[in-house]
Amino acid sequence: MSAGSNSPHYPDYIVDRENEFTVSTDAYRGQKVFEDEIDRIFHCTWIFLCHESELPEAGSYKSTLLGLQPVIVTRDRAGDIHALLNVCTHRGATLCRSEKGKTRTFVCPYHGWSFDTQGKLVGVPDAERYPECFDKASRNLHKVPRVASYAGLVFGSMNPDVEPLEDFLGGARKHIDIWARRAAGSRYVMGTPHRYMFNGNWKFQSENVYDGYHPGFVHRSAFNTIKKYSGSFVNRELNNPVRQQGYTRGYEEGHGTLEAGAPLESGGVDDDVRAAYEGRLTELYGEEGAAEVLTNRQFLIFPNLTIFDFNIRVIQPIAQDRTEVYSYPVLIEDAHPQINNNRMLDAQTRIGTAGILSADDIDVFAGNQNALKGVGADTVVLSRGLGKETEEEGGGKVGVYSDETPQRAFWRKWVRLMKQAGN
Ligand code: FES
Ligand SMILES: [Fe+2]
Repeated sequence: MSAGSNSPHYPDYIVDRENEFTVSTDAYRGQKVFEDEIDRIFHCTWIFLCHESELPEAGSYKSTLLGLQPVIVTRDRAGDIHALLNVCTHRGATLCRSEKGKTRTFVCPYHGWSFDTQGKLVGVPDAERYPECFDKASRNLHKVPRVASYAGLVFGSMNPDVEPLEDFLGGARKHIDIWARRAAGSRYVMGTPHRYMFNGNWKFQSENVYDGYHPGFVHRSAFNTIKKYSGSFVNRELNNPVRQQGYTRGYEEGHGTLEAGAPLESGGVDDDVRAAYEGRLTELYGEEGAAEVLTNRQFLIFPNLTIFDFNIRVIQPIAQDRTEVYSYPVLIEDAHPQINNNRMLDAQTRIGTAGILSADDIDVFAGNQNALKGVGADTVVLSRGLGKETEEEGGGKVGVYSDETPQRAFWRKWVRLMKQAGN
């Protein structure tokens, strides 16, 4: 978490006035900005690691990235979850090469040192050749200093002094709670992710998830195709490219939502199966509560976790102009097969890698990165809805569906984290 004396003066990157909100295009490019983001955002705050269902039993593990830090998330014999740096403490080899699995120990491929699921060094081949004073305990795997979970979502932080996870989630907790209720009293099970890469800055994807202004333009051909061939799984007013129904929200903690104000329509579920599912929700949460659960919402947990009704998307920065995205279908344990098929179908056909919507967006992100090379393209404008928002009880600003309310919340948080120590 270095301050970096050569860092740009990040507060100058945004103009946040009563009637104007702009962001410098330098925020999307350049090695120094990217390094500072990794250092001051990804290695300083809470970052999503996995869903608890990805570690179903003792010995389950998943290897992933926390910022650019390779980590292994494990479940030990007592059922506790740990996050360990995926770096062998002998000579620095990548310890675990598999994406997921189950094991008692991780054996390093280089010289065979082995570690248990809590990171303890338990085996050193031919240990007698080490000096008497060699202390195995000092060579346990390094731990990610903080790990915590909320509603089954496991987060880690490289910052030992990070705020409590619940405070970090702030106003977005309400939306996570509503999302969790969609499991209708059962549990979520994360599927294997689809992946895609694009040649653009990671923030283009973060800013897009709650962008209610773009769908009627970027996705117009997709919506028309859906309308022509299959009825509809997207609740849209096709006669007006700018949707008039629904909301956006932006929270001080940097999180934001896009809420359609109506359920996402989808085919493939028989009426009686749908009625049983909705009946269960009503039983659990009352009529109003069930309607709230069924309302389409998608939101970003700052900086890179996207939660959709049926899907989770993790945005992984690779370089200042390269990003990888993991798109996980989220199924419900014990649900009727039609309910889960429908969830899977949503991941595959709508917002997954080959989904009818993602391809359009990815093309825009790569185009953005290219266009920002243009001389004179110094700022982007995010003023939509400024001064027209309302305040939500307990904090948070509420705009209409096409407002840039959540993007402004994102950038305000971005600057707060980036302007550390003297700049
Ligand atoms: S680097 Fe892992 S055992 Fe040598
Ligand atoms: Fe889109």
